[in-house]
Amino acid sequence: MNKCAVVQHILKAYSKEPKREQGTFFAPSNIALCKYWGKRDTELNLPHTSSLSISLGNLGAKTTIALEQALKDRISINGKEVDEDSIFSKNLSHFLDLFRPLNSVFFRVATEVNIPIGAGLASSACGFAAVVGALDQLYGWELPLSLLSILGRLGSGSASRSFWHGFVEWQAGHDADGMDSAGACLESVWPALRIGVLIVDSEQKKLSSRIAMQNTVLTSPFYKIWPEKQARDLKDLKKAIEKQDFMALGETTESNALAMHALMLTTSPPILYSQASTLEAIDKIWHYRQLGLPLYFTQDAGPNLKLLFLEKDEEAIIKIFPKLIVVSPFNIGAFQC
Ligand code: DP6
Repeated sequence: MNKCAVVQHILKAYSKEPKREQGTFFAPSNIALCKYWGKRDTELNLPHTSSLSISLGNLGAKTTIALEQALKDRISINGKEVDEDSIFSKNLSHFLDLFRPLNSVFFRVATEVNIPIGAGLASSACGFAAVVGALDQLYGWELPLSLLSILGRLGSGSASRSFWHGFVEWQAGHDADGMDSAGACLESVWPALRIGVLIVDSEQKKLSSRIAMQNTVLTSPFYKIWPEKQARDLKDLKKAIEKQDFMALGETTESNALAMHALMLTTSPPILYSQASTLEAIDKIWHYRQLGLPLYFTQDAGPNLKLLFLEKDEEAIIKIFPKLIVVSPFNIGAFQC
């Protein structure tokens, strides 16, 4: 099945004409505590395993979409027009092809992102989620978030988790068309939880996670044990969240990220996102943890780290990492999952 067939299936009973002049939607960025790494269907971004993330509160992307009287899409980020020949523009226009009322209709897409550039904060996740949410507003579909999550996934897998605040689980599902592979939020609220973004290197990653994870699936001799590790970690993380057991949350999150990076190292050719500065930071985290500070990390497809700690230790941790960007995931007014 291809993306177009999935979109047609979801939208068959909905309007093909815009209901409003423009649609606007905010989607938070998300960090996986239990990672998504490997697809069973590369066209529909269907994962081999379920994953679990925490959304980053007010950090994310806000997108406004309107129809454009022109011969091409006009795309801007933070007020700056994006070159139509850039990979970013091409990917987004290709995704928008799925939602044009006619092939000859184009969009104006204006996105404001407030996440630190180069931090590896899954900008494609909140970016695609915000685009899908803005299209929902523009066309007046009013789809449930679970269906928006499926549409977002067609742009980027991790976008399926960017439609909610708080903890979000993306169920891998089994269906070939992916209609059972969507995000859903957990009810739990953990106001004292903090995420710290530690930028150790702001250079663009050399290998996209899309290509890297596919190479891992195809060549790592250890990929066959990944689903088992994932199932156990997911269960442990949900239990830790339910009991607000921070040590269990930190230990499982860190172990899950290290296992994903171990898979990458055993890929052929090997994939290494860490820099010397990444390892130095990990060493520091482990050193302070040994001294009794409850501090853990996770790492995605890049050299930067995201730290996990509690509000009570914020001051001490900022002393160790003065440039840390601290996020309070639940400090977003009335929490509604
Ligand atoms: C390491 O969602 O960017 O951040 O589906 O190919 O767009 P595509 O991949 P993407 O991969 C994210 C990988 C990760 C782990 C995660 O967010 O779960």
